[in-house]
Amino acid sequence: MTVTVSRKAHFNAAHRLFRSDWDDAKNEEVFGKCNNPFYHGHNYDLIVHVTGEIDKKTGYVMDMKVLKDIIKAEIEDAFDHKNLNEQVPEFKDLIPTAENIAVVIWEKLRPHISSDKKLEVTLYETPRNYVVYKG
Ligand code: NI
Repeated sequence: MTVTVSRKAHFNAAHRLFRSDWDDAKNEEVFGKCNNPFYHGHNYDLIVHVTGEIDKKTGYVMDMKVLKDIIKAEIEDAFDHKNLNEQVPEFKDLIPTAENIAVVIWEKLRPHISSDKKLEVTLYETPRNYVVYKG
């Protein structure tokens, strides 16, 4: 039987969406409030979904304590209370939109989840705006 188990996590982080090869007017037009040169924060809610067969011995798809610890080490410790543009190396040359953040999170988690399981990431940037990345 294939089951999906999910773990919620949270981090606060600051970002700015802009392209240095565009002028101020173009950045303002495309990115709006998220182009604020002084940065601004979001309360990101992350849901990590792992899908796989139930292990007959444990009854688990994955030990949620293990998943919790992976998310803390790889994502929360790296992103929480950080300026994503300035302090997180993955966004040195990558615009930290919710889409790109979700892909980075997936790529950071993937090596730590056993390869026979499917990984999916849902990232809420606001309570109403969220993105999904399935790899
Ligand atoms: Ni923003």
